[in-house]
Amino acid sequence: MTLVRPADAAAIEEAAARLASGGLVVFPTETVYGLGADAANRDAVAAVYRIKQRPIGHPLIVHALDDGPAMAWTEWSQRAQRLAEAFWPGPLTLILKRAADAPAWACGVESTIGLRAPAHPVARALLHAFARRGGIGIAAPSANRFGRVSPTRAEHVVEDLGDDAPLILDGGPCEEGVESTIVDLSRGRPVLLRPGGISVAQLAAVLGEEVLERDAHAPRASGTLDAHYAPATPVEVVDAEEVPARVAQLRSQGSSVALWSRSVPASIADVGLAMSHDARTTAHELYDTLRRLDRSGCDRIVIERVPRTPEWRAVGDRLRRAAAAS
Ligand code: TXA
Ligand code: MG
Repeated sequence: MTLVRPADAAAIEEAAARLASGGLVVFPTETVYGLGADAANRDAVAAVYRIKQRPIGHPLIVHALDDGPAMAWTEWSQRAQRLAEAFWPGPLTLILKRAADAPAWACGVESTIGLRAPAHPVARALLHAFARRGGIGIAAPSANRFGRVSPTRAEHVVEDLGDDAPLILDGGPCEEGVESTIVDLSRGRPVLLRPGGISVAQLAAVLGEEVLERDAHAPRASGTLDAHYAPATPVEVVDAEEVPARVAQLRSQGSSVALWSRSVPASIADVGLAMSHDARTTAHELYDTLRRLDRSGCDRIVIERVPRTPEWRAVGDRLRRAAAAS
């Protein structure tokens, strides 16, 4: 039986105790909900892979306090120090070479470790309570089944994981709504692996050097696969001026259409939702909206293309992947 509990002090203590004894806990972060296990416990981490149905080679992000002992699991560097000082706690994951005593089983096939200090007060309280029980880091992927849309509300986790979800700490809707920015510091130059709330320009400004785009040598990262972040209903992303014609065409072919658009009246589709003109608001609403469009019962989902500007990058990236999976 799934247990959803408001994330009050007692629930957080219980969650920390569960983690410390090898159990799993779903907890809110400022980006999306995570399915967490004690990173140092090999069996607990194995259970995360099992429930998430995630291929074993795909590494997990280890969540930790920004001033805690998890840094000893990495080859901490000056670049890491600069970025951590500027952006932790917050939606930034650092990929670093891992130290000899790091929990290799959380790191897939990589010789690196992904580390993030989340800012959400519930995530931080959980990390503090876990630390009081000797815990160092919580390995946690997004709390969805592999390849599906990330959960930004406790009810999304229930929908997705059903009775496989262990204790769920309900902290309300996630503020950011898209997964953390991932930057790889394990190679010669910093490389962006996944765009998120913290932009390349922000990273470059703090580092005082260019942040490279992913290339063919980038390590495997499931969040960077196309065919990810996808609803079950086919999705297409269409330029604003082409939306009316495309919707009309699909409907004339007998398909019902669910539309998410900024500039086109909802009434042209069978189901229509209005997209915000603000990138942060759209990110916040993204996964809940994708789930609503998916549940609408329509045959097709059409989404208006978002601007190609830096502030829209993370949303544009997730929409492109949702469409690539269709
Ligand atoms: O915002 C987030 O990052 C959320 C919350 C829960 O913190 N977590 C998240 O986890 O999105 P997940 O597992 O869904 O995505 C983690 C991404 C994957 O693309 C994974 O491959 C990559 O991080 N990753 C983790 N460790 C890595 C490593 N050592 N090297 C390369 N990529 C890594
Ligand atoms: Mg994920």
